[in-house]
Amino acid sequence: SEQKEPGLPLFFGWFLLPEEEERIKCATMDFLKTLDTLDAFKQHISEFTGEAEKEVDFEQYFQTTGPLHCTAKFCDYGKAEGAKEYAELEVVKDSFDKSDEISVTALIVTPRTFGARVALTETQIKLWPEGGDKTGAPEALLASIEALPAGSRAHVTLGCSAGVEAAQTGLDLLEILALQKEGKECTQVEMELGTLSYLGEGRWFLALREAITADTKFSSFSE
Ligand code: A2P
Repeated sequence: SEQKEPGLPLFFGWFLLPEEEERIKCATMDFLKTLDTLDAFKQHISEFTGEAEKEVDFEQYFQTTGPLHCTAKFCDYGKAEGAKEYAELEVVKDSFDKSDEISVTALIVTPRTFGARVALTETQIKLWPEGGDKTGAPEALLASIEALPAGSRAHVTLGCSAGVEAAQTGLDLLEILALQKEGKECTQVEMELGTLSYLGEGRWFLALREAITADTKFSSFSE
């Protein structure tokens, strides 16, 4: 329905605690600074800058807004499909305002977005909405998404380039996972943090050697 439902938030999700937010922002910015120095990355720099030989200042390139979080259900104040039903789920009510830990297993960087892949636990998957991986996805990606396990889209948006909406991060992640499934990695580089893969068109994926965990609270957000 297109009707606004009173009391429904913009979205539900796992929100990083303030001290965790700082830690994750620093660690992930360090990764971007290292990425910037790699020859493999420099070779494809024009996919970010439009010009060869030009450097990217990632601190400027990716803008962050709002609290760091992993979206569970985008409700759009009730305008999103299934928003009311989601808010009324027993598991949502029971989990609300409760502490929880999320596990980041990979980072993605594309010309549009910078994000952290979240591996949901079996308990967390219960808070993942039906069809949550597919919402707003382009037609061309739907078949690949269906072939991925539920919750594959779970992520924290760490930054977006100018004019890009946050929802793009999940779509970039799904596209990368689909390409990986097809064996489309081009270059692989071993880094201290893990294995970095290039998937063409400025898409980079770092599989972390060790997952980064962060303390969160499951809650909702409204502007
Ligand atoms: P994400 O979860 O990728 O960070 P906005 O500020 O654009 O209104 O978005 C608020 C939050 O809801 C962001 O976290 C954003 O993306 C997420 N979001 C926005 N639109 C959608 C959508 N259509 N499907 C899923 N998540 C969305």
